[in-house]
Amino acid sequence: MSGSPPRIVRTRKDVWTLGNAGDDLFWYQKAVGLLQSRPPTDPTSWRYLSAVHGYDPQSDPFAQSGDPLPSNADQQRFWNQCQHQTWFFLPWHRAYLACFEQIVAAAVVTLGGPPDWAVPYWNYSDTANPNARLLHPFFVGQTLADGSPNPLWVEGRNSTTGDFGIPDADVSLGALRDAPFTGAASGSDPGFGGPKTIFSHFGGTSGRLENVPHNQIHDDIGGLMGDPDTAALDPIFWLHHANIDRLWEVWTHRDPSFRDPTDPDWLASLSFEFHDASGTVLTFTPAQVVDPSQLLHGYQYGDISDPFAAAPRLAAEVAMTAGPPPHPELVGASAQAVVLDSPVTTAQVAFRPQVARAARARLAAARPARAYLNLENVTGTGRLAKYDVYIDVPPPGQETGGRQGLLAGGLSTFGVQKASRPGGPHGGSGITTVLDITDLVERLRREGRWDETRLHVTFVRRGGAGRQPPASNLRVGRVSVYYG
Ligand code: C2O
Repeated sequence: MSGSPPRIVRTRKDVWTLGNAGDDLFWYQKAVGLLQSRPPTDPTSWRYLSAVHGYDPQSDPFAQSGDPLPSNADQQRFWNQCQHQTWFFLPWHRAYLACFEQIVAAAVVTLGGPPDWAVPYWNYSDTANPNARLLHPFFVGQTLADGSPNPLWVEGRNSTTGDFGIPDADVSLGALRDAPFTGAASGSDPGFGGPKTIFSHFGGTSGRLENVPHNQIHDDIGGLMGDPDTAALDPIFWLHHANIDRLWEVWTHRDPSFRDPTDPDWLASLSFEFHDASGTVLTFTPAQVVDPSQLLHGYQYGDISDPFAAAPRLAAEVAMTAGPPPHPELVGASAQAVVLDSPVTTAQVAFRPQVARAARARLAAARPARAYLNLENVTGTGRLAKYDVYIDVPPPGQETGGRQGLLAGGLSTFGVQKASRPGGPHGGSGITTVLDITDLVERLRREGRWDETRLHVTFVRRGGAGRQPPASNLRVGRVSVYYG
């Protein structure tokens, strides 16, 4: 036995089990109010913490002339750091959230609360909870019972009630079935955690978990949450990210074939800087965050059980763990960019039949081929609408009959605006979304309807009472299909 005192590991709890006097949600509401009262020059203030994720003076809802902001050098070093479209997405947000948790916990203690506060998580994918997809009532009302402002409420979300109409596709946990942590930068499976990159603050291809549910939930809540430069100003942001971080834990505990990268470029080529509750600068490499019980104060989740534990492992899932992914092959693409300027837009994918046949034959030798729909280089500015993406093989003559076909997923616009700026790191080339359509293709094949030379992809704008008509200059650079 060692002589050191036992470490109290905090437990992050499901927000739907909270909301009573003295619990973690009760104290979150109070502590957020305290952080919001601090000036943005203070690294433990609400505005500074949000700017670490992203900041643009044009979209700062609290900016006033003469506003005291940190020095340019300080902003350059600590602001606009969040990692997206990269294998650093999960470790960066984990370290960010742990430092935030320490800062909020210190505020809770200042306010007279307990020493072991932990950030709650929002499990919108919980099929056992009928309220799972609703925003917890603590975040909904503009004022509290005593008439004072509710620190957890923000203006401009897509719904003024807790109901955002979040569809099944947006809370799918399909990403958890993806055993490779990292994958292709374009074409095929981008991996559970995202493609291998250098420092990546928007632009490129989203990883599976980052695309769904992460990006989708940002779009669904909308308002501040819909833009990376303001997202962390909405107090729900942190509960959303606690859940994404929890899903990383669920994934690593599924079975031994689900492993974090061992590539030194992931483990230690970058280190990320944050301030702790005392304002001291801390640095973290991904290697230093892989075990939550050893990160800062240490934390664990109330539930990391495997949502697919009872389901038999899919043959394709097993095959994906069997070896290195085969080289993906481009088998078809739209002739030009697809401009989403109307409620329904259909694009045809021109297939290269010989290439497709050869790719299928080559892949079949190793494992069943998978099909990936790539929505490449999505760009746009202003407030962008969200689209659902369908694939179909319409019978001849019915191509324009308003058929939708089979739902492949949602096209998220989270970060698209940032990734469209010509001065940005990717030269404004936008964000690429990869949707695994293997199961849909299989279904069409079984029904005798699959004809790859006649594949149509339809984008249907999502409506909704509370949503304003979009500015709509959303554009998909190319729609393509890869076998891989
Ligand atoms: Cu860095 Cu949910 O975003």
